[in-house]
Amino acid sequence: MSAREIEADAAVIAAHWREEEYISPPSRFIGQAYASDPAIFERFAEKNFPDCFREYAELLHWDQYWHTTLDASRPPFFKWFVGGKLNVCYNCIDRHLPKHRNKAAFYFVPEREDEPIVALTYQQLYRRVNEMAALLRDFCGLKRGDRVTLHLPMTLELPITMFACARLGVIHSQVFSGFSGRACADRIVDSRSRVLITIDAYQRSGKLNDHKDKADLAVAEAAKQGVDVEKILVWRRYPAQYHSTTPMVKDRDFFVDEVLKNYHNREIAPEVMDANDTLFLMYTSGTTGKPKGAQHSTGGYLAYVAATSKYIQDIHPQDVYWCMADIGWITGHSYIVYGPLALAATSVIFEGAPNVPDAGRPWRIAETLGVNIFHTSPTAIRALRRGGVDLPSQYKHRFKHMTTVGEPIEPEIWRWYWNVVGKREAVIVDTWWQTENGGFLCSTVPGIHPMKPGSAGPGLPGIYPMIVNENGEQIAPGSGVAGNICIRNPWPGRMLTIWGDDERFVKTYYARYNNDPKSKDWHDWPYFAGDGALQAADGYIRILGRIDDVINVAGHRLGTKEIEAACLTVPEVAEAAVVPVADEIKGALPEVYASLQPGVKASDQMAKKIVDAIVDEIGAIARPRRVWLVPDMPKTRSGKIMRRVLSSISAGRDAGDVSTLANPEVVEELRKLVQNKPR
Ligand code: WT7
Repeated sequence: MSAREIEADAAVIAAHWREEEYISPPSRFIGQAYASDPAIFERFAEKNFPDCFREYAELLHWDQYWHTTLDASRPPFFKWFVGGKLNVCYNCIDRHLPKHRNKAAFYFVPEREDEPIVALTYQQLYRRVNEMAALLRDFCGLKRGDRVTLHLPMTLELPITMFACARLGVIHSQVFSGFSGRACADRIVDSRSRVLITIDAYQRSGKLNDHKDKADLAVAEAAKQGVDVEKILVWRRYPAQYHSTTPMVKDRDFFVDEVLKNYHNREIAPEVMDANDTLFLMYTSGTTGKPKGAQHSTGGYLAYVAATSKYIQDIHPQDVYWCMADIGWITGHSYIVYGPLALAATSVIFEGAPNVPDAGRPWRIAETLGVNIFHTSPTAIRALRRGGVDLPSQYKHRFKHMTTVGEPIEPEIWRWYWNVVGKREAVIVDTWWQTENGGFLCSTVPGIHPMKPGSAGPGLPGIYPMIVNENGEQIAPGSGVAGNICIRNPWPGRMLTIWGDDERFVKTYYARYNNDPKSKDWHDWPYFAGDGALQAADGYIRILGRIDDVINVAGHRLGTKEIEAACLTVPEVAEAAVVPVADEIKGALPEVYASLQPGVKASDQMAKKIVDAIVDEIGAIARPRRVWLVPDMPKTRSGKIMRRVLSSISAGRDAGDVSTLANPEVVEELRKLVQNKPR
């Protein structure tokens, strides 16, 4: 076998998923859905590409209409709606005022239940954004094309600052508030920001957390790397009170609420931007190397998130929409802020952790505000399920629509979401996409397709996915063979490039399956997503996880996710994580970490039950070397299980730097448990 053949063979990921049954969307949902006519797929068929996407752009107000829908003359640097001019802030706020001035644009829900919920109307948002834009322009001297780094938690000040930037054409780069000062510094340096916008403190997980201390660290570190931040703007969580232990540095640090007094009632004309100007940067980590600044556009991006908010999220003006993600991630940018507000929706911003003080909190918020569209991740769903399998039934919330996003969802967890959280009344969409993509790529269209637990569904209208092997040959749907998922065509929400690194952009996403770097035809430039996936005969796509999340057992590639899903078929299991451990004979073997539902005792029988489930669901090939029943998993602050840490524990290696975890103390506990036991 040639090297290439061996590689191609290795790409054949063994897929052991059982096909799940279809579940029909509730008819009450279909009756009111924006998209219930399958003709949408006819309109977005390949023969109508790229002009089909005009329909998306027409949801926006354009100061000048575009002349070219897609300019593909310099692949893979595609440009959408070329010649078009618009302002994102105008589209999300100003144009709604005549009709929706008095409507809540955002509800802000503080973590503490004894603090009142704040409703911010479109009129109030308009005022606050204009004043902040005046401050950024006149006090900081920021102008179109400049970058500014935001390190803000989930309060109203974050979208207000984002819109103020968008109004001026200033490129914002929001860093997730859970990230350290160091991570913030790297992003300041890469984007060359001379202004950092932060807050003194915020409530999270039952306490008021100092946040300004990270800004001082970030700025000191950035200076070491040669980038001088001139100003730190400090919002205050409770205006006029300062809750950080760090001193304010004279002539560098400024309280936003104080400076804003000079800009009372100021109005700033929205800057007329080109469709392909940059709206924001969103840094995302690759498996190696420094974080990549995904550089998102103005026209294509806004058109794509507005349209997918309309047809996939089905947000109508009368709905109350709550996406429980953090605005510091792309999900929050696209589906808390820009998409919903482009549609004049009411969007909920929740400061806190979902299970503080208890796992009933989200359902109390939903009851109080009448939330009827709910959007979250499998990690959060698993955590809430762990907080009480029947708990949601005790609340009177009624959802018409629910989303899951961010990782593959195990069918068992999906069914809990459907039965217990949604009470079988809410349609579910499992939306697959990435930071780089701007918006959803695969999902069912909720008023049209039946749902299938664990499957994201087919490509969205105008998105043509394909699953290929290592040689780029398409794998036939329904063949039971998995491969790498690619998107064959360009789409308006895709990032323009990686900030400052066109070469890395081409290399990471396009070089793999492009056979002719000189080709000017977009057909030769499939987008490589880096996920393993399996397509059923009906076209539904099941995402197996990152290509690097694969365990090769005896030349048989097993998705860690499918083993985890098997563990979760055991009702006592709350969470499961699978990591590869080296094995002399088989190359690698899976090792399981599982935490149990509250009240369930760890025992050898329990471990055996999990092994049996894996062997039953997948086969003896996936039999784990060991099952560790653990009190908790090491997690990032955004709640993702750190498999890297678990696999070093399994391998008897040092777990490395764990200081950025949400619960670093658990690492030592697990290490003792695992490394002190005889094998
Ligand atoms: C990776 C992208 C885009 C929103 C949040 C994550 C995984 C995302 C799904 C889904 C299975 C999913 C993929 C993807 N992923 N959505 N519905 N089913 N896996 O953004 O941090 O850029 O991560 O998340 O592996 O590549 P991100």
